[in-house]
Amino acid sequence: MKQPEKIRILKELLRQVEHGVNVDAGVLLKNPTESYVCPEQATREWQLFFREQPQLIGLSGDLPQPGSYLTLDDFGVPILATRDAEGVFRAFLNACRHRGTTLVEESRGAAKRFTCPFHGWTYRADGQLHGVTQAHDFGEIERSCLALIELPAQERDGFLWVHPQPGGDIDLDAMLGELSEELGEWHVGDRVFSGATTLEKAMNWKLANDTFGETYHFARLHRNTLNNIFHSDALCYDAFGRNHRFVFPSKGIGSLRKKPESQWSTEGVTTVLYYLFPNIQITIAERQITLFRIYPVPGQHGRSRTVVSHYFSTEALQHIAAGTKTVIAANNVYDPGARDGNAVIAPEAAMEIVNSTLEKEDYMMGERTQRNIEAGLLPHLIFGRNEPALHHFHNTFRAELGMPALETFS
Ligand code: FES
Ligand SMILES: [Fe+2]
Repeated sequence: MKQPEKIRILKELLRQVEHGVNVDAGVLLKNPTESYVCPEQATREWQLFFREQPQLIGLSGDLPQPGSYLTLDDFGVPILATRDAEGVFRAFLNACRHRGTTLVEESRGAAKRFTCPFHGWTYRADGQLHGVTQAHDFGEIERSCLALIELPAQERDGFLWVHPQPGGDIDLDAMLGELSEELGEWHVGDRVFSGATTLEKAMNWKLANDTFGETYHFARLHRNTLNNIFHSDALCYDAFGRNHRFVFPSKGIGSLRKKPESQWSTEGVTTVLYYLFPNIQITIAERQITLFRIYPVPGQHGRSRTVVSHYFSTEALQHIAAGTKTVIAANNVYDPGARDGNAVIAPEAAMEIVNSTLEKEDYMMGERTQRNIEAGLLPHLIFGRNEPALHHFHNTFRAELGMPALETFS
């Protein structure tokens, strides 16, 4: 993020905190609850957003070296992602070309060859068929025709993108627009993958997204956790096409007043969260990145899965390993010592805090909401003037589905 933009954001947050006001979308919207329970809409969302559009599957740190691999099955096409011997990121259908079983079952690791557990055919990280067990039983076969089914894959600025269709197009300039340059400035590819958790919940995938759409709930729902270090109900919000940036202040933001603007940084005094259409929420800081990938469960409109992946800078990991008192994870940690961005906490603890806050506080609300909506008596939910991310998220995907924009509530 460029320094003038940082200064603009930080000044706006200081203004809000000092005056006790929040971002103002200027209007209330009502969101029909049908959106969370309509099977037909759920089917269209799955097809349009997850089967036909490029998907962010992780960060470069998920494939740290040639030979690294990663498997996932989040959007209907089981994926084997690799970094081949030349360091190129590739993605394949995770299926053996002999009789089609799953080629790699482990979630991640490093391997020179992949050996099918069924009959033992082997493949290279570039997808080429390497060995056929008892090849004489097959006679002459053209191995180049039996490479793994390859999918379009692009690694840009540390983000790993895959298209679920072999002929699909990944147009990152169109998808990210002017946010593309800013995302590149964070150098997210430098961070080290440190762990992942999957949360499977009885709520529509949009309810899971909604919990990332405002800070209004911090003082109440997170009163013993996030509220200890963040100002509730303060937010600098900017939409970029289908995506958005959402910055909220830590309680130590007032410390900026003691510094010249040229030295102002969002680091340690705010959390910077990006939403990337349709299902990505990602907090990015110098020392810690947390990636949330949120998926519907096909055929079950009331269920979703969230994969939470954690990445830390090598510097932070070295300091922790050496027992040095330093700053880590200030964007997510709610230890009171973190108020000025000075938390000292191990990655495992930081990961656990994020996961448990999301699961035991945010997603608990989401599951209860889903149950109440399923009762069929709530006609709509209200999105406040202080919840512009929810206005934007819902109107964006509605537009993509050809649905009318949300109506105002008055
Ligand atoms: S299915 Fe893989 S070797 Fe037979
Ligand atoms: Fe929350």
